[in-house]
Amino acid sequence: MSTALIILGAGMGTRMNSELPKVLHPIGGAPMLVHAMRAGAALNPEITVIVAGHGAEAVSKAALAYDPDAQTVLQAEQLGTAHAVAQARPALEDFDGDAIVLYGDTPFICAETLEAMAEARSAYDVVVLGFEAADPGRYGRLITQGETLERIAEFKDATNEERAVTLCNSGVVAAKSSVLFDLVAAVGNDNAAGEYYLTDIIGLARAKGLSATVVRCAEAETLGVNSRAELIAAEADFQARARAAAIEDGVTLLAPQTVFFAYDTYLGRDAIIEQNVVFGPNVTVESGAKIRAFSHLEGCHVSQGATVGPYARLRPGAELQENVHVGNFVEIKNAIVAEGAKINHLTYIGDADIGARTNIGAGTITCNYDGVFKHRTVIGEDAFIGSNTMLVAPVTVGHQAMTASGSVITRDVPDGALGVARARQDNKASFAVRMFEKLKNLKAKQVKDQ
Ligand code: UD1
Ligand code: CA
Repeated sequence: MSTALIILGAGMGTRMNSELPKVLHPIGGAPMLVHAMRAGAALNPEITVIVAGHGAEAVSKAALAYDPDAQTVLQAEQLGTAHAVAQARPALEDFDGDAIVLYGDTPFICAETLEAMAEARSAYDVVVLGFEAADPGRYGRLITQGETLERIAEFKDATNEERAVTLCNSGVVAAKSSVLFDLVAAVGNDNAAGEYYLTDIIGLARAKGLSATVVRCAEAETLGVNSRAELIAAEADFQARARAAAIEDGVTLLAPQTVFFAYDTYLGRDAIIEQNVVFGPNVTVESGAKIRAFSHLEGCHVSQGATVGPYARLRPGAELQENVHVGNFVEIKNAIVAEGAKINHLTYIGDADIGARTNIGAGTITCNYDGVFKHRTVIGEDAFIGSNTMLVAPVTVGHQAMTASGSVITRDVPDGALGVARARQDNKASFAVRMFEKLKNLKAKQVKDQ
């Protein structure tokens, strides 16, 4: 059965008190919307439709960045969740499979839960995701009879008896696409909020003789974000789960509470992550690599046997091959560092290729930017870059070549050659002795004159 995802994200999110649309606030370095899209991706959706309203342009851009095939439809006025779903109808006109509705501000729904809903769909026309709420608060209440879901009572409209029900609506609904849209079209807004409630489709479905049921999940999965405080709590939950998952996968975290993950961080078995390490998006650390304390990594790949840090920064496009050593106060960006190369201290390597086993001395800088363009530095295998070398790109240093420390290298250094580019040293005999004497006499005179 093919599936379409409809992700609701038009709401203003007033309580976020932000210019940024609510669904674009990040958790683990990715917008909440992307978390919802990722969860939905487990169902292999044929079509993904995002319903956007506030900040629709930015929402559309974020959705496309994650999935270039995602479509965004506009809900110009937020008249309720049923009205929001109705906006997706034209985008799914020719679609014949199942539709599943997710919320863009509910980022933690598990793939397994959505799969369970898809399975329940083979026996029921409409499937709603519910949970036992510790504090049901203002959630919609699921009114059941045996396995059958009879209707959903929104808090504002519920009787005291209905409010006593603790089985609550997560908002996730699955049905055949055409059935969903027909039901949604029949929803009115004669209720306490004056909104078109998506939840009304259950009562309408039952009245038409269609079947409906509830699939249950843990409350933590349905956690929604409505305020900055809830966003912080959601981030903390996300980090706790990411740390636990990494430990379960065989990663050594010396101080798990101090390691921060992105939504897509991949750490191999027996990788060692020391204290206070931050992972931005798109990082892969292979088995057995070691990331030492206070390092910051994003958009990079660290191969087996490599060590990074302490106090290192790997930026997008840093590719460290096997057994590379990157030490303290080293920044690497958009550079391939081949097997066994060492960049141990106080260095910037940007837009570069560093050959296998090459040693980069302390204080080396690839001068990659001329103020307008970026240029590449290429260094061969088994080369030795002397301390405090400036490599003014574009420039190439050959295999087994050297640069003298303190050089400003502006021309290519051929294979096996030594590049020296600094003033020659001149020693002036006895000069220092005479200079010291002069300075000491001057000081003695100043003291006397006071
Ligand atoms: C909704 C459910 C409630 C459920 C709760 C779970 C309805 C009527 N109620 O209530 O049963 O327990 O979620 O969190 O569905 N949105 C739009 N356009 C709109 C209105 C909302 O896109 O016109 C989007 C919002 O951006 C948000 C989602 O739909 O992502 C939920 O809307 P919200 O207003 O937060 O619904 P609740 O009142 O929380
Ligand atoms: Ca809500």
